[in-house]
Amino acid sequence: MAQEDVFKKLVSHAKEYGFVFPSSEIYDGLGAVYDYGQMGVELKNNIKKYWWDSMVLLHENIVGIDSAIFMHPMIWKASGHVDAFNDPLIDNKDSKKRYRADVLIEEQLAKYDDKITKEVEKAAKRFGAAFDEAQFRATNQRVLDNQAKRDTLHDRYKNALNENDLEELRQIILDEEIVCPISGTRNWTEVRQFNLMFATEMGSTADGAMKVYLRPETAQGIFVNYLNVQKTGRMKIPFGIAQIGKAFRNEIVARQFIFRMREFEQMEMQFFVRPGSELEWFEKWKAFRLKWHKALGFGDDCYRYHDHDKLAHYANAATDIEFLMPFGFKEVEGIHSRTDFDLSQHEKYSGKSIKYFDPELNESYTPYVIETSIGVDRMFLSVLSASYTEEQLTGGESRVVLKLPAPLAPVKLAVMPLVKKDGLPEKARDIINALKFRFHCHYDEKDSIGKRYRRQDAIGTPYCVTVDHQTLEDNTVTLRNRDTMLQERVSINDLETIIGDRVDITSLLKQLI
Ligand code: GAP
Repeated sequence: MAQEDVFKKLVSHAKEYGFVFPSSEIYDGLGAVYDYGQMGVELKNNIKKYWWDSMVLLHENIVGIDSAIFMHPMIWKASGHVDAFNDPLIDNKDSKKRYRADVLIEEQLAKYDDKITKEVEKAAKRFGAAFDEAQFRATNQRVLDNQAKRDTLHDRYKNALNENDLEELRQIILDEEIVCPISGTRNWTEVRQFNLMFATEMGSTADGAMKVYLRPETAQGIFVNYLNVQKTGRMKIPFGIAQIGKAFRNEIVARQFIFRMREFEQMEMQFFVRPGSELEWFEKWKAFRLKWHKALGFGDDCYRYHDHDKLAHYANAATDIEFLMPFGFKEVEGIHSRTDFDLSQHEKYSGKSIKYFDPELNESYTPYVIETSIGVDRMFLSVLSASYTEEQLTGGESRVVLKLPAPLAPVKLAVMPLVKKDGLPEKARDIINALKFRFHCHYDEKDSIGKRYRRQDAIGTPYCVTVDHQTLEDNTVTLRNRDTMLQERVSINDLETIIGDRVDITSLLKQLI
C-alpha cells in the first residue's frame, strides 16, 4: 500500500477509535488544531509519564517545574523571538496557497534522495547477493548525477539560510523548477519573513492593556526560573529542569495532521553545565535521548540523527532525532547546545544578576545549557504510525491492530464474560474491581468474543481476559495476547503479576540505565 494511503487510514483510525478529533469539528474545524479523545488522552498521558519519569525519577539532579503560559513580554524580546522567530513564506499567485520556502526546498532535496534510493534498490534486486552497494553508488552515472545535483542544491540552500538571503531562497525555487502542488505553476511571489508568535492583550484597554504572547516554547519558563529552582532546591551544577506544557505557533503551513500544529505540547529539559563542558554533555544527552526512543522497540532503522545545516546564532551544536513517519524521516526531537545565550540575555534585559556561584571552583559564572526538546504530539504520531498494522489472518479474515508498546497502551486489560448470564458478568466485574487500582481496565460483554477482540486490537489493548464457566470452578481465565493472539489459561491470582511485568512504565525505564 502507498505510504499516503497508510497515512490516510491512520488519520481515520485515530478518529474512529477516539484518539484524535479535529478541533471544533461541528463548525468545520480550525486549521491545525486538534483535540485528543478518550483513547488519545490516555496514550498521550502515558507518553508524558514515560518522558517525565525518565528525566525526574531516573536523574537525581533533574527536577520539574510548571511555569505559566503568559510571561512578561520582555522575555520574548530578550530571547530573540520578537525579532527573529520567523519562517520564510512564499505564495503561489495562481492557487493563492502559502508555503514555507525552506520546506519546498527540503522536499526537493528529499526527491533527489528518493531517486538515488530507488536506483540502489533496483540494482540490489537485479544483482542479488553479489550486489556491492558502495561500488554501485561510486560508479553508477544516474546515481552520481543525482548526488551532484543534490549536493549543489544543498550547498546553495545552506548558504542562503546562513546569510538569511530571502532572494536567493526564491531563486533556488525558480532554478529547481519547483511547482505549486495545487496549481502546478511556478508563479511565485517574493519570499517574506513571517513571525510565528500569537499575540493577545492582558488587562482592559482603560488600564493601558499590555501586549503579551502565547509562549512559542516552554524553555523560557525554565530559564527565567533557573535561579529560583537552583537556590530553593540547593541544586549544584550540573543539574537539569524539566517541564511539559503547551506551546503555540502561528505556523504558515499546517498540514500533515498532528505533525505541525498551531497549539501543541512540548517536553523540554534544560541542563545547566560548566562553560567548556557543554559539548561533552551534548553528546551524552544525544545518546540518552536516542536510547529513550529505541527502548519502545519499533526497530533501530526508524531513527536517525540529523545535524542542523544552519546553527542558530546562540548554538554551538544542534541535532534532531528523526523518525520514519509514513511521509518520510521527520524531526521529532531537537537536542541543542545553547551556550549561555538565554541566561545572559535575561541578565541583560532584566538587569538582575543570575549567575551561579560554583563552590568547587570558588567562582561565579553564567552556566551553559544543553536542551532536549520533544513535541508530545509528534511523538504521539510516531508511536501511532509505527504501531498501526493490518494483518491477514488464516481463514481469509483480517484485523487492524495497534501494536503499541504495552506501557503506552491506553487500556491495559479488557475483561469479558463469555456469556451475559450464569454469574460470569459478576465474576468479570470482580476481576476489574481487584485490578483497576493499578491498570486501566475495560469491561465488554457485547457481541461475539471475536468482535470484542477486534475492538480491543484496534485500540491496542495488550491483554484480554475471558471469563467462562470453568472460571467459576477453578478460578482460572483465558489470557489472550494482542500480538500473538495466543491464549493461555492462568489463575486469576497471577493476573496482576503477569500483566504488570509487561505494562508498567518501569519496564521501559529499566532499559535506560
Ligand atoms: N526550545 C526549543 C524548541 O522549541 P523546536 O525545534 O522549535 O525547538 C522542539 O521545537 C520540538 O517541538 C520539535 O522537535 C517538535 O517535536 C515540536 N514542535 C515544534 N513545532 C511544532 C508544531 N508546530 N507542531 C507540533 N510539534 C511541534
